[in-house]
Amino acid sequence: MEKRKEGARRASHIWLLLLALLQIYTPSSVVSQSTTNSTLNTTDATTTPAPNPAVLTYRTRPANMKVAVGEPAVFCCGVPDASPSLKFTLYGGHGNYTLTCPDGHVEDIPEALYGNCEMKKGESLAVWTIKGTSYSDNGTRVECQQSNNPEKRSAVLHVYDSGINYAILIGCVIGGFFGTLLVVALAFVTLQRSDTVQRCFRGGGGETDDDQTTIVTKG
Ligand SMILES: *[C@@H]1O[C@H](CO)[C@@H](O)[C@H](O)[C@H]1NC(C)=O
Ligand SMILES: *[C@@H]1O[C@H](CO)[C@@H](O)[C@H](O)[C@H]1NC(C)=O
Ligand SMILES: *[C@@H]1O[C@H](CO)[C@@H](O)[C@H](O)[C@H]1NC(C)=O
Ligand SMILES: *[C@@H]1O[C@H](CO)[C@@H](O)[C@H](O)[C@H]1NC(C)=O
Repeated sequence: MEKRKEGARRASHIWLLLLALLQIYTPSSVVSQSTTNSTLNTTDATTTPAPNPAVLTYRTRPANMKVAVGEPAVFCCGVPDASPSLKFTLYGGHGNYTLTCPDGHVEDIPEALYGNCEMKKGESLAVWTIKGTSYSDNGTRVECQQSNNPEKRSAVLHVYDSGINYAILIGCVIGGFFGTLLVVALAFVTLQRSDTVQRCFRGGGGETDDDQTTIVTKG
């Protein structure tokens, strides 16, 4: 009898503990759900386990970029590896391309584009690289979306004219002009010299012949 009572008491203790645990956990979850949505859908709550909001976030957000034409542009988007699926779409002047990470799937993309997925430091990272920007890349937009995350992150590429290309062009033209001038001048000078040399040869052919023979005999 005594043992049974004790067992019952123990069982009731366990029950109390369980109840306490339930009370600790249920209200907080209800509160957190009701704060996110007051018109809570019970079927929703039971069928889809609510994803941990801590992992539904963007660790690396794509940032707007300004690059000089011809320079490469890189866009990154990273999410915690606890929820690593994301889609990184590029809306470019040459078309739209979607990179799906972490499996790294990309459709056929042009040569100038490069899309890859990386896993590093607890982060699932999607990277779009435009190897050399052109004016048609101006206004290219990227959009990142983690799966199950309603929020998206986007950024825009601005391609500007650095003026360096014009400088190079002008430099080449001016350089080319002076270069040609220099070559012409040098050619002229050497021609004149050879002219005088020839004249020397013509003037005193014997002397030079003697010189040459003396050199030969000396050597
Ligand atoms: C809650 O969800 C309902 C539909 O499920 C939606 O109409 C409503 O805007 C949501 N409310 C909030 C605060 O998110
Ligand atoms: C609740 O969920 C069901 C099924 O997912 C859906 O048909 C219904 O519209 C939802 N109700 C509200 C209020 O969101
Ligand atoms: C790319 O996406 C934008 C926006 O969704 C759309 O307007 C455009 O027509 C698409 N371009 C191509 C080539 O599919
Ligand atoms: C790039 O686009 C912006 C805005 O659409 C525009 O103001 C700028 O002039 C463009 N730059 C070039 C080099 O076309």
